[in-house]
Amino acid sequence: MHFQWYPGHMTKAKRMMQENIKLIDLVIELVDARIPVSSRNPDIDELGRNKARLIVLNKADLAQEKYNEAWTEYFKDKGYVVVKVNSKKGTGIKSIQGVIQKACKEKIERDRKRGILNRPVRAMVVGIPNVGKSTFINSLAGKACAKTGNKPGVTKGKQWIRLNKNVELLDTPGILWPKFEDQNVGLNLAFIGSMKDEILQIEELACKLLTFLKQYYAGILAEKYEILETEDAYTCLKAVAKQRHCLLQGNELDTEKAAGLILDDFRNGRLGKITLEFPSNNH
Ligand code: G4P
Repeated sequence: MHFQWYPGHMTKAKRMMQENIKLIDLVIELVDARIPVSSRNPDIDELGRNKARLIVLNKADLAQEKYNEAWTEYFKDKGYVVVKVNSKKGTGIKSIQGVIQKACKEKIERDRKRGILNRPVRAMVVGIPNVGKSTFINSLAGKACAKTGNKPGVTKGKQWIRLNKNVELLDTPGILWPKFEDQNVGLNLAFIGSMKDEILQIEELACKLLTFLKQYYAGILAEKYEILETEDAYTCLKAVAKQRHCLLQGNELDTEKAAGLILDDFRNGRLGKITLEFPSNNH
């Protein structure tokens, strides 16, 4: 899915979030494990104030394990409960229910003190487009798909998915917008394919990715495309075009096609597990 945001969209998304957030105890925030900060929404901490919080590093299968660990520690240090998953395959999904209980410990304890026992925790999944919200919900619900609400004769309302006797999940996720005014965030979102490629200069984008990979993942390009990584990014792009027979009429190198191929390889994990953003004190 591709997305473009403009104020109308944002206002509507924010209004829906504000409405739905009143109904829940726990915000399950999905981020992309390859870019855990760039894929966050700047307002989520404000919107989720006074709620229990859980951060899910989704698409962990596409990111480097050592950085998944580092990001887990990073968010834990900030007071969040964190879990890493691959929603597509279901890896890590089993642990979610336990993690939800952990994230809601204080709420459950508060209830208990007031004599409220066994009131289910109500949760909502939120995140920017394409981060995997639907896949995550389906993966969770697949295991326990008992919907409540919308019973005949009852006013049409929210659909809740009962995960177990302790947890109910709102079936529609909250959509948030990224910090797209930040150039670096925009670039990271473009790398992972969450921006319209048509609005981007694809060769420039591929060159930026090549530069990054040469610097932080030395050897990957040489191995995958049999090219010399010591050359500048555009020369590398031309070398990939040559290796992969991306040719225009008259045997001219089709660098645009090669750029698309490299981006596609990266996005589908064919260049290996690659984290684009590293934890640092700047975040
Ligand atoms: P959204 O609701 O937040 O917009 O995201 P959605 O679930 O539609 O997922 C966006 C894309 O990310 C989908 O790929 C989905 O399969 C993929 N995805 C979601 N979670 C994971 C994960 O943990 N690991 C990996 N590797 N991929 C994940 P798509 O290209 O749109 O479709 P398809 O490839 O599944 O056909």
